[in-house]
Amino acid sequence: MKEVVLSGIRATGNLHLGNYFGALNKFVRMQNDYDCLFFIADLHALTTHPDPKTLHSNVKNILAEYLAAGIDPDNATIFVQSDVPEISEMYLLLNMHVGIGELMRTASFKDKARKQLGIKSENEDIEKEIIGNESNKRVNAGLLTYPTLMAVDILIQKANKVPVGKDQEQHLELTRRFARRFNSFYGVDLFPEPANFDFGGAPVKVPGLDGSGKMGKSEGNCIYLIDEEKVLRKKVMRAVTDEGPKEPNSPVSQPVENLFTLMALTSAPEVVQQYRDAYADCSIRYGDLKKQLAEDILKITLPIRERIIEIQNDDALLSRVVRQGAEKARERASQTLREVREIMGIKKFY
Ligand code: TRP
Repeated sequence: MKEVVLSGIRATGNLHLGNYFGALNKFVRMQNDYDCLFFIADLHALTTHPDPKTLHSNVKNILAEYLAAGIDPDNATIFVQSDVPEISEMYLLLNMHVGIGELMRTASFKDKARKQLGIKSENEDIEKEIIGNESNKRVNAGLLTYPTLMAVDILIQKANKVPVGKDQEQHLELTRRFARRFNSFYGVDLFPEPANFDFGGAPVKVPGLDGSGKMGKSEGNCIYLIDEEKVLRKKVMRAVTDEGPKEPNSPVSQPVENLFTLMALTSAPEVVQQYRDAYADCSIRYGDLKKQLAEDILKITLPIRERIIEIQNDDALLSRVVRQGAEKARERASQTLREVREIMGIKKFY
């Protein structure tokens, strides 16, 4: 039997190059070798109160982007989290075994809670703030229990491998802990402990265009798969650089290194080398580098963009994919939920 791989993306906007190189194109490569489930986490998106008018179109966007990037719905299972009500029920059950302390200590929770309460300092006593705060800046319980829901996504499918980025590793660690805890509390061997997926080699880190860290939705430094040609060119041409090398073989500054990194992901190796050499001998012109970079990014994104638009307009395809996906995902989920209910002693009178 093939190992089960599961991963999800929160429905909070469009996918960018970071998602593409960090996740999507790995998903595509895995779909033949593993029993893959890829889903759109719309329930997780609720923790930050998306506009109800746009939530569904966000789900639809990501769905179209999954397909446009090459995930084959007849090969992998693609589904929408909220289409699997078993997840919500098991979330309630698993929460009985999750400590509020361990949830409050989770880095992502502390970050988000701090942001919501407007706390700047890392040292501030955030627990006190959370308990004492009576304004409408309350930190919702869904945010606290985000890791429970994520653990359920994984455990309900009995997934073995979960390809996620560094920022999700702590959530995965909690998932393993909950799995062990459940198994040992009831003396069962129900849940496998999921491992992060190791592709070998260095993890891909896709930098943003603003000269700082990685590409991220909240950073506002993204190139989206759906970006129009003109928009994309403009973004790349505006990317942060520096004054250029003054003497041969100068060290490369972070913003410029970021552009080289993007280039390494999208351009041919000899092209990258050519610009590296030009940097080393001070003949580089950042304008040329950016033009080349935009060109090479467009070679990847434009065909995807065209497919996204085509797929977004194909409601028949979209509903076939999610219906088929939900059916497959529910089949396993309902089996696991049945086992969990039985193990916990929930029985029916009728
Ligand atoms: N928390 C993940 C993120 O923000 C999304 C996610 C939800 C997920 N459930 C999951 C990822 C289960 C992997 C497995 O990126």
